[in-house]
Amino acid sequence: MRVTDTSDLWWKTAVFYNLDVETYLDWNDDGVGDLEGLAHRLDHLAELGVTCLWLAPFYPSPQQDNGYDISDYYGVDPRYGHLGDFVEVVRTANDRGMRVIVDLVVNHTSDQHPWFQAARSDPSSRFRDYYQWRDDVPDDQPENMFPDVEDGVWSFDEAAGQYYRHSFYSHQPDLATDRQEVRDEIAKVIGFWLQLGIDGFRVDAVPHLIDTDEGAEHGFLQALRGYVSRRSGNGMMLGEVNLPYDEMVPFFGADDGDELTMQFDFVANQALYLSLARQDATPLATALAARPALARGNQWGNFVRNHDELTLDQLSDDERDEVFEAFAPLESQRIHGRGIVRRLPPMLDGDPRRIRMVYSLMFSTPGAPVLFYGEEIGMGENPAVSGRGAVRTPMQWTDETGGGFSRADADDLVAPLADEGWAPEHVNVSRQRHEPDSMLRFVQDLIRHYRSSPEIGWGELTLLASGHDCVLAHAVVSSTGTLVAVHNFAPDGRSVDLDLSGLLGAAAGDGGDAGADAPRLVDLLAERSTPEAPADDGHHRIELEGYGFRWLRVLRADEKRLV
Ligand code: NOJ
Repeated sequence: MRVTDTSDLWWKTAVFYNLDVETYLDWNDDGVGDLEGLAHRLDHLAELGVTCLWLAPFYPSPQQDNGYDISDYYGVDPRYGHLGDFVEVVRTANDRGMRVIVDLVVNHTSDQHPWFQAARSDPSSRFRDYYQWRDDVPDDQPENMFPDVEDGVWSFDEAAGQYYRHSFYSHQPDLATDRQEVRDEIAKVIGFWLQLGIDGFRVDAVPHLIDTDEGAEHGFLQALRGYVSRRSGNGMMLGEVNLPYDEMVPFFGADDGDELTMQFDFVANQALYLSLARQDATPLATALAARPALARGNQWGNFVRNHDELTLDQLSDDERDEVFEAFAPLESQRIHGRGIVRRLPPMLDGDPRRIRMVYSLMFSTPGAPVLFYGEEIGMGENPAVSGRGAVRTPMQWTDETGGGFSRADADDLVAPLADEGWAPEHVNVSRQRHEPDSMLRFVQDLIRHYRSSPEIGWGELTLLASGHDCVLAHAVVSSTGTLVAVHNFAPDGRSVDLDLSGLLGAAAGDGGDAGADAPRLVDLLAERSTPEAPADDGHHRIELEGYGFRWLRVLRADEKRLV
């Protein structure tokens, strides 16, 4: 008997949506988004078709790194509400068919965390060994992750009289995760949030988290995943590992994928921007072709933008310069020498054809899509906000003052709204709900098609010859079906001749390769689409407009799925 696991492995076909409670909806009008506000917008997310929320850190924090500097792992920052509000959000999300995952930030704490305060002020405190200390700075110290802000990874603490390690900001001391007592603390944190009903974690800075003096300690990651699975049958871990593919593979786990459940595909993401800059699909095609095969239970997280800089650190210097020149011509649009602090729509000058092409690509690429709040309406950034904060402006709900995010005075808002052409009066949910051709409706449609095409989550990728460098043609094939997608990176149209004979032959099954029983193709994104029969030799010609795209479902003669 086959024990089916397609619905157990829910992340294989999930639609993730990342938001920061602080900037989503301010229910009490104090200028700061809150959990109650989020609870009132869960229907927006359910209608959009989201199936899993990823909540950015909402824990008590001095907020020197957007909440990634945690001072208490077991609470909710009082500005957002309390644990009761959190449970209401999880319960209501579940009721609307959505799961919730939360950020697990345990490579470091805030320097305000009681553990660090105890550690620095008392060498005999049991918390001293929770952190990493030295009497001097080693000659060969590694580069800090924020090299333009921090000189290195060791800073002197006056009270402790020693140097402590920090991979990120100096106010974020690294925990000594090689110590059993620290590992037990981390497990307790995981157990706590799982008990409150979440379905997993977005795990922050994984390569740093398991990096010990002896090297990367995969046994620890494996133990954490095992613990998550024991405490919650549905539990998963989506890890942040920005490394080349061959270095990412070990983080999925050597033993049948038993470490991280999912990883963001930073490689394809960076290649996407190089392809966009060159108007040439080759860099992306090359990256996708190099993607390592995954164990059945693992998955890629595909994304266009996230809450950080758009990092281009895996591109060569020349390639990065090409992307910088195309999308971040101003020095103020760049950060850390490696990334861009803009959202996609302004980078593409607001061209709806090109913006939609990019999202169509994300949703049709094998894996699970991860949206960053506001992408569904094409939000822009606020260039007046320095650094990564530029892309973390409040969600834009209406065209009112405060963008429907809050009625507090502009000066009291937790972050300024986007302005000029990207201001709420031009870009907001409320208006787009009523416009049939809006970005919101478009993304909603993509999600609908993604959800009815489980082959994208489960299938194998095949890159097809398109005959044009600017056109990416790919197929995803699984036992549930076959989808072909074609995307044009160039501003002018292309006529594409696709040889689908291999795919159609497989769909026809034994002997059924011609006549009324032959597979047909249906254009999923067209308004009213009649299935078309490809030529007898399996070739199919597609006319693509500039930045045009198509999703073609291969319809078997006995197809029962709705199209
Ligand atoms: C990665 C997070 O995405 C980023 O926002 C944060 O600054 C660093 N980790 C440090 O926690």
